[in-house]
Amino acid sequence: MFGKRGNDDGNRFTPEFRQPAPAPAAPPPAGPADTAVLARPTASPQPSAPVAPPARRAVEAPPIAPEPKRGREKSETYYDTKSQVFSALIDTIDLSQLAKLDPESAREEIRDIVNDIIAIKNFAMSIAEQEELLEDICNDVLGYGPLEPLLARDDIADIMVNGSKNVYIEVNGKVEQTTIRFRDNQQLLNICQRIVSQVGRRVDESSPICDARLPDGSRVNVIAPPLAIDGTALTIRKFKKDKLTLDQLVRFGAISPQGAEVLKIIGRVRCNIVISGGTGSGKTTLLNCLTNYIDRDERVITCEDSAELQLQQPHVVRLETRPPNLEGEGEVTMRDLVKNCLRMRPERIIVGEVRGPEVFDLLQAMNTGHDGSMGTIHSNSPRECLNRIESMIAMGGYSLPQKTVREIVVGSVDVIIQAARLRDGSRRITHITEVIGMEGDVIITQDIVLYNIKGEDANGRLLGEHVSTGIGRPHFWERARYYGEEQRLATALEAMEKRAD
Ligand SMILES: Nc1ncnc2c1ncn2[C@@H]1O[C@H](COP(=O)(O)OP(=O)(O)OP(=O)(O)O)[C@@H](O)[C@H]1O
Ligand SMILES: [Mg+2]
Repeated sequence: MFGKRGNDDGNRFTPEFRQPAPAPAAPPPAGPADTAVLARPTASPQPSAPVAPPARRAVEAPPIAPEPKRGREKSETYYDTKSQVFSALIDTIDLSQLAKLDPESAREEIRDIVNDIIAIKNFAMSIAEQEELLEDICNDVLGYGPLEPLLARDDIADIMVNGSKNVYIEVNGKVEQTTIRFRDNQQLLNICQRIVSQVGRRVDESSPICDARLPDGSRVNVIAPPLAIDGTALTIRKFKKDKLTLDQLVRFGAISPQGAEVLKIIGRVRCNIVISGGTGSGKTTLLNCLTNYIDRDERVITCEDSAELQLQQPHVVRLETRPPNLEGEGEVTMRDLVKNCLRMRPERIIVGEVRGPEVFDLLQAMNTGHDGSMGTIHSNSPRECLNRIESMIAMGGYSLPQKTVREIVVGSVDVIIQAARLRDGSRRITHITEVIGMEGDVIITQDIVLYNIKGEDANGRLLGEHVSTGIGRPHFWERARYYGEEQRLATALEAMEKRAD
């Protein structure tokens, strides 16, 4: 079989992360089938010994239904058996040859050999257990080990691994613990290594923090010991291939149909928008939705730390920041990108996440003819968002008087859209708020749409509705008129007011 080791193979592949491990507990019983497979029952690596995954295709199309075995905790015996089978497998196959195979063939190859090993070693296993073991081993060798079933699920927003024994996921806005676990911290770290090495980074004791991306675009953060005290912490924001649309957000109740209409108009008429929200509240999703209403002939430049936005327009330039290399050189910050954007004749600039002094450059862009620029900011209310903007400007070392800073903010930001994840896990747009001017030293804002929580149903789900605050003519009315959208705006606001009555 291709990929299997010959007995005369003196040039054995040594996996990069190979660990010394106990020899197989029981020597294989002699038998007629004991030929090619168990030719070398020698000291062997731990089950996590990886090869560079030949490709992630195997991951995208797992042969077994990706339902997690949530209810069933795997026993110590299972891990022990797996360890023995894995050791025998690694001893038998030539991993470097295996890496040359396409993922399906590699899986087939592994299946054949593992089946042989189980038969020869006489492990008592049901067909179902055998299938489970096969799947686990394939995932260890070809993919991301125990994470595979989670990565294959599309309903998971985040995967949070806190050391080898605690894996949490976020589903439908709620965080839940899974029964998935890694054999030990080393296996977890090995998988993290494999993930980050694919984007040319490294994570270990000397460089314990690392951002990376999975080939499918999912955002990854790893923080390893000694900084993470109880074992490596791995956080993955799963990339949704099919991004949510504004219509879907309406269906989920994140915004009312009329509220969505107001958002579409705000996006279309080139208001400068800041989307504010806590972590995982749906800021990026909302930003992506709003970009749908940008006219197709506008030149848009996006700046992101990790490309998440998926603009549908043809005239888009996508830029991404770069962290420093191992020698600490070559960093390109968000600020560098936003500044550079201004020399690229943008009509709109979209900043995925504003977290530092680049806010000043974005505001400058907003107020120097790049109307319709947008960004997201971590904050819990529109008012807090304004404070955050001010403090981020201060972080940039600008020593401008407070009033001047506020005037710049007022002159730049038209609308703040607040996103929130509520205590029942649902995500809602809670405010559409305009920034309308200054009174003395204070920035004046005006809410146009608010989400009112009215109570809670029998299942603990919050009940509420989006209401207009009665502002018939928002500050951006003239802008809407300029784009011929004033009638649509008036109708949407009116309908919302009626509903609230
Ligand atoms: N209204 C919604 N209803 C249901 N799921 C949503 C909604 N909005 C966003 N999501 C999902 O929630 C997850 C987090 O969304 P998103 O990445 O937009 O959040 P974020 O605020 O940008 O997070 P971060 O602060 O980490 O950047 C994604 O999986 C997304 O698909
Ligand atoms: Mg985001």
